[in-house]
Amino acid sequence: MAKQTWKPGNMIYPLPAVMVSTADKEGNSNILTIAWTGTVCTNPPMAYISVRPERYSYHMIKESGEFVINLTTKKLSHATDYCGVRSGRDVDKWKECRLTKGSASSLEYAPVIEEAPVNIECKVKSIQELGSHHMFLAEVTAVQVDESYMDDKGKFDLNSTGLIAYSHGEYLDLGNKLGTFGYSVRKKQAPRRQKKAGCKKADAKDAGGKKANGKNAVSRKAAGKKRTTARRKADR
Ligand SMILES: Cc1cc2nc3c(=O)[nH]c(=O)nc-3n(C[C@H](O)[C@H](O)[C@H](O)COP(=O)(O)O)c2cc1C
Repeated sequence: MAKQTWKPGNMIYPLPAVMVSTADKEGNSNILTIAWTGTVCTNPPMAYISVRPERYSYHMIKESGEFVINLTTKKLSHATDYCGVRSGRDVDKWKECRLTKGSASSLEYAPVIEEAPVNIECKVKSIQELGSHHMFLAEVTAVQVDESYMDDKGKFDLNSTGLIAYSHGEYLDLGNKLGTFGYSVRKKQAPRRQKKAGCKKADAKDAGGKKANGKNAVSRKAAGKKRTTARRKADR
């Protein structure tokens, strides 16, 4: 396989393109689009955003020490791009994009974007002046989620909100589900067979239980439990 070697640069894709809302202490607020963002710690929950100091929003984040990471969806893709190519110095992005300011539950100044399905409220812990970008390392102080994506058991179905990704200059929606966390090592379920009269021996073999498959077999209940445990470990 022939490969080209390029000069060093950023090539970690796909990324989320999030809309970050922030405000200064006088109550002036703004939105900017950020792709240089991510989770850095599970406990305490921490995230970062890297912002160029010349951005209008930069001083707001620095002054109030607050910002909200608003996840973006197909519906919000136009606004996501707009908030990344126009400055709050020149336009009111809330008005232009018809976005609604909502109250953060744990912040004093920065508002949330109501239309986003998830609002991650952040308080700045430190600023690393890396070069072109300064990294705001922040603690996540609350997360708001849109209740309309809750199923009747109270489970939040994030992947049905229409999340988008940003990759190499393009906005993309998410494709098909390929598996769930840990699927590569999970034991396959034996197919359930219907009981037939007079086939007692076969029943035992085909049931998918220990008798049939030996020590590696797992019951549906046990497999479900394993899945839950795997999910709990997922965010380490
Ligand atoms: C998809 C996308 C991702 C971006 N990611 C970043 C980023 O990570 N950091 C940054 O400083 N600017 C980023 N920008 C640029 C800012 O969003 C843009 O300069 C914006 O107009 C700044 O707004 P403001 O001047 O109102 O603060 C991105 C723009 C787009 C379209």
